[in-house]
Amino acid sequence: MDALDEVLWVFLPYITIAVFILGHVYRYATDQYGWSSKSSEILERRWLGVGSQLFHWGILIVFLGHIVGLLVPPGVTLAMGVTDEEYHRVAMILGGASGLVAYVGAWILLLRRSLISRVRATSGASDFLVLALLVVIMSLGLYNTLYYDVFIHPFGYRTTIGAWLRSVLTLRANPSYMINVPISFQLHIVFAYVLFLAWPFTRLVHMWSYPVFYLKRAWILYRGRRISGVVANA
Ligand code: HEM
Repeated sequence: MDALDEVLWVFLPYITIAVFILGHVYRYATDQYGWSSKSSEILERRWLGVGSQLFHWGILIVFLGHIVGLLVPPGVTLAMGVTDEEYHRVAMILGGASGLVAYVGAWILLLRRSLISRVRATSGASDFLVLALLVVIMSLGLYNTLYYDVFIHPFGYRTTIGAWLRSVLTLRANPSYMINVPISFQLHIVFAYVLFLAWPFTRLVHMWSYPVFYLKRAWILYRGRRISGVVANA
């Protein structure tokens, strides 16, 4: 293990986590009015609708897959009666399909922002950076899932990358798990660091503002107002 391994798998993950948390606190304290996804729906609706739906539904499943695949130790799924082969088959089909859906969505959003002049004119560098990073990270993820694992060699990421990630999150980072991980998997993670480092300073902060409480809020009652026999809308 050399110094680069220490930097990549011990130093950088903690720097990334610290910047991610403190960056959000800073952004919230200094830019509450800019805390949004800066909707561009008014400029173009059709491609936004398609791209956004595909991206968000796909990435939701990919995200849940990452949580289970990386944070749940293989022993737990085995104890639940799921063999390693069964797990990987389902992960590949579900992860691959949802990854492809999200990937098509991200490309549509990137092309829309680049090719439609009025959307491009109102976009900042960080808007392009976010979409480009998503495309790069997902290209590598899909290459690993649908090409490397299938045509080169099935890679046991749960006992290597998963074990490393759990060691980082429990504050006992162990870089030795990452040493023999293929380069395309390592690059996938390093580009994810870049995304997480940029996250608090981009439109991605809107993810924390999804209006879930809206579903539980009390009804707002609109009543007609009667003015001398005529009903006027309040
Ligand atoms: C430190 C963070 C991350 C780690 C450790 C990680 C790890 C992995 C691993 C191990 C795979 C499975 C490869 C295989 O099946 O052999 C994968 C696939 C994938 N990742 Fe990530 N990933 C991270 C962040 C991200 C992010 C931020 C995105 C979204 C932009 C992403 C998108 C994908 C996609 C689309 C796939 C392929 C489909 C799938 O298997 O779900 N990953 N990633």
